[in-house]
Amino acid sequence: MTMTRVAVVTGGSRGIGSAICKALQAEGRTVIANYAGNDARALAFAEETGIKVHRWDVGDHEATIENCARIAQDVGPIDIVVNNAGVTRDGVLHKMSFEDWNEVMRINLGGCFNMAKATFPGMRERGWGRIVNIGSINGQAGQYGQVNYAAAKSGIHGFTKALAQEGAKFGVTVNAIAPGYIDTDMVAAVPAPVLEKIVAKIPVGRLGQAEEIARGVVFLTSEAGGFVTGSTMSINGGQHMY
Ligand code: CAA
Repeated sequence: MTMTRVAVVTGGSRGIGSAICKALQAEGRTVIANYAGNDARALAFAEETGIKVHRWDVGDHEATIENCARIAQDVGPIDIVVNNAGVTRDGVLHKMSFEDWNEVMRINLGGCFNMAKATFPGMRERGWGRIVNIGSINGQAGQYGQVNYAAAKSGIHGFTKALAQEGAKFGVTVNAIAPGYIDTDMVAAVPAPVLEKIVAKIPVGRLGQAEEIARGVVFLTSEAGGFVTGSTMSINGGQHMY
């Protein structure tokens, strides 16, 4: 039987994050979904699932520390973290602003650091923890028009392998999942002709489903998963075999 442990999923009210929240809830975890801005979607998600939602910007260091402390006080120590929150600001380098570079680094990569600072020390002290960072195929392979996103996601993969080494002795595993193109709002925002060309290159012949990423998270956060650490699980329909 799965223990009732507290799991925080960033960017948990929509897209891949919401599927992760539901899958962890089905495993008996006490799930808290963080979200950044879309109150209407978050409240609808909370109503539909009974999962509590907490609004803050994971790119904001102090806000992350404060909110995680509040969650721990209200529902118990945070044993599982899924760093899923991420944004795109696509554009070719010669048109990309510094703000578009910085915002993606601040949220996608900085969010992982902020969440780890807020929760890893406690996991280490208690001798058990699971951190799963959502990277991307585009962090592994690069992508035209995404120097910011590819750099941040690639950074997530390095962050994962470094923190995994620090957590190993203390029962804390740190792993990454590298999704390919998944059927979410983020991918729907890719111009249709560009997306068609991308899908044509996916051997499985379709976009992935958010639930297909969530299943990987369930495995990596399981009680029995203690020997899996520092790994990257690619879930991409065979688009990039790494
Ligand atoms: N390789 C080579 N050339 C490419 C290219 C590619 N992959 N994509 C576009 N180009 C070329 C075009 O053919 C075009 O060339 P010509 O002018 O000679 O015809 C030129 O680049 C400009 O293309 P656009 O008209 O599209 O230029 P734009 O400035 O309007 O837009 C872009 C550029 C923002 C990069 C746009 O093409 C785009 O949004 N691409 C999709 C990027 C992408 O895949 N993002 C993933 C988002 S989902 C996600 O990130 C989730 C995840 O983790 C997987």
